[in-house]
Amino acid sequence: MSETAPSTVSLTVESGIATILLDRPPMNALNAQVQGALAAAAAEAGQRHDVSGVIVYGGEKVFAAGADIKEMEAMSYTDMADHSRSLQDFTRALARIPKPTVAAITGYALGGGCEVALACDFRVAGRNAKLGQPEILLGIIPGAGGTQRLARLVGPARAKELIFSGRFVDAQEALAIGLVDEVVEAEDVYAAAKARLAPYVDGPAYAIAAAKEAIDRGVEVDLETGLEIERMLFSSLFATKDREIGMRSFVENGPGNAKFQGA
Ligand code: CAA
Repeated sequence: MSETAPSTVSLTVESGIATILLDRPPMNALNAQVQGALAAAAAEAGQRHDVSGVIVYGGEKVFAAGADIKEMEAMSYTDMADHSRSLQDFTRALARIPKPTVAAITGYALGGGCEVALACDFRVAGRNAKLGQPEILLGIIPGAGGTQRLARLVGPARAKELIFSGRFVDAQEALAIGLVDEVVEAEDVYAAAKARLAPYVDGPAYAIAAAKEAIDRGVEVDLETGLEIERMLFSSLFATKDREIGMRSFVENGPGNAKFQGA
């Protein structure tokens, strides 16, 4: 178990699964310090060999109600022009973790909070979850990836309706439009997120990372470029121990019995 320096964001590791916990009551508003700590925690979880998957969790009451409006209120254009890159960098750091990631969402996931969830591979929501991009109500637009990742996840028309209106989406609607992948009782959200990652803990880590990278980079480019990304990553896996283990295990013991080493 280890903890990153700032106490508003902690990183703990148990049985191969890292939990990045937001702890800034009452609403886990994401000020600049939290954004930096989240990026640092994402980088650490990405690098550690004892981490096979990552949960981002805001605790039992709230995921995160967005960037800290009180901090932003006093900012000038030039202040934000300087800060806006790191605003995107912290969700980019989460999206680039080369391991499966899950947002475990209870209560509000709004603005930057929703954008944190969008930067994860999967989203598990409690029945009490409310997601949305309400920035328009502040006279701004999402600035931590929301205009891009929401549109890619739920389609441009739905993303426009949600971002133009700023309305909140409840858990059932979020499930119906593909904004979340699973809805459970609020008290079961963290356990459900863990269960979602469990199958990958003893998996072929480099193959999982390659699959994530091929999909994430591939959806951004034309088909031929995506196929080339796939081809190169596919070939690269023939340099891994797990590729040898997986194929030898199949030949000797049939499918699904390989004991991977993550190497
Ligand atoms: N920033 C700063 N403070 C916030 C906050 C935020 N995003 N969200 C809530 N708070 C604060 C409130 O000001 C309040 O503080 P005080 O006790 O000092 O008054 C406290 O948290 C509790 O909030 P409420 O009293 O409003 O609680 P509620 O239950 O009535 O409502 C809520 C909860 C619906 C989440 C409401 O607080 C709300 O709408 N919050 C703002 C949501 C929002 O607009 N998020 C987008 C932020 S901009 C952004 O994220 C930009 C980006 O893309 C990165």
